Amino acid sequence: MSVHPMWGKYPTLYTELTSVLDLMEHSIQISNKDISTAILTMINAGGKLLRPAYLLLFSQFGSQNDPEKVTALAASLEMLHTASLIHDDVVDESTLRRGLPTIQAHFDKKTAVYAGDYLFVCCFKLLSTYASSLKSVQLNVSGMEKILTGEMGQMASLYNTNMTVKQYLQNISGKTAELFALSCFIGAYENGTSEAFAKKCGKIGENIGIAFQILDDILDYTQQADNIGKPVLLDVRNGVYSLPLIYALQKDAPALLPYLQKKEQMTDEDVRMVHSLVRKLGGVAQAEEAAQKYTDTALQAIRKLPKNGGNTKQLLLAITQELVTRKN
Ligand code: IPE
Ligand code: IPE
Ligand code: MG
Ligand code: MG
Repeated sequence: MSVHPMWGKYPTLYTELTSVLDLMEHSIQISNKDISTAILTMINAGGKLLRPAYLLLFSQFGSQNDPEKVTALAASLEMLHTASLIHDDVVDESTLRRGLPTIQAHFDKKTAVYAGDYLFVCCFKLLSTYASSLKSVQLNVSGMEKILTGEMGQMASLYNTNMTVKQYLQNISGKTAELFALSCFIGAYENGTSEAFAKKCGKIGENIGIAFQILDDILDYTQQADNIGKPVLLDVRNGVYSLPLIYALQKDAPALLPYLQKKEQMTDEDVRMVHSLVRKLGGVAQAEEAAQKYTDTALQAIRKLPKNGGNTKQLLLAITQELVTRKN
């Protein structure tokens, strides 16, 4: 198992994340060969492991020292994330993930749905074994509910050219920020911090998650598929109108509507036109500013955290800063 090279400069975290990946691999015990191969290939394909990294870092603020438990909780949340990606690729009809064919492209939809389901099972197996109280399990369930609500909010607003920034933020708070919030909360809380302190950590995670999803949405407008390891130009075609497009529509809807109104019938050329208009109208730049704003809020809150003896605060600041400038 090898961890994403971005962690190479943080040796302790690198080692801990390797243990997380190893545990994930060993937790996959399913007799169906295709499902097993599909999941193991996906786990090995070099995901960024951001959620477990935040969980591990926030655990440093607690007084307990139980590496086995922290590793298990981090693995559990990464499995939840991986399951949501597998199912998301079925919903988005996406062919590429982490630079490899998606499970439904390589096998079929059934294998992908069951692979995702099995990862949910693995997530709860680990969580229910290692969580110290029912509270974390309950939070996880309500976290999953919020993720689903965000996804359904997105589905309800497909092809909606009147989508507001507020609706967009609501959707991404659920579908993405919730899992970051949960990772930061559980890392701190399960390692013995007060609930009030862990909630502050969760709030930091929420801001990081919002910034992270805005950036992911920007990458769809600015990057090539071979760089981000997943298809580009997919969101607009699928009717997912994210922040750069929402801002561009607010500037000059008449320029964009003739293309967008074609919905599923948009040609490749139409999609490219929309992308170029969104950039020209400043939608990407304005979305970048918004991402920076959420990142700054997170950074400010991280600076206010107590010193915990180690260099956790510095690491949190560095990693969170890097997220805003990422290109993949
Ligand atoms: C992708 O998450 C889904 C979003 C929330 C944008 P990541 O970009 O963290 O995916 P991996 O795990 O690194 O592949
Ligand atoms: C994030 O949304 C997906 C989940 C929260 C499951 P996206 O659809 O933008 O994620 P990517 O771009 O496919 O990774
Ligand atoms: Mg997707
Ligand atoms: Mg995306």
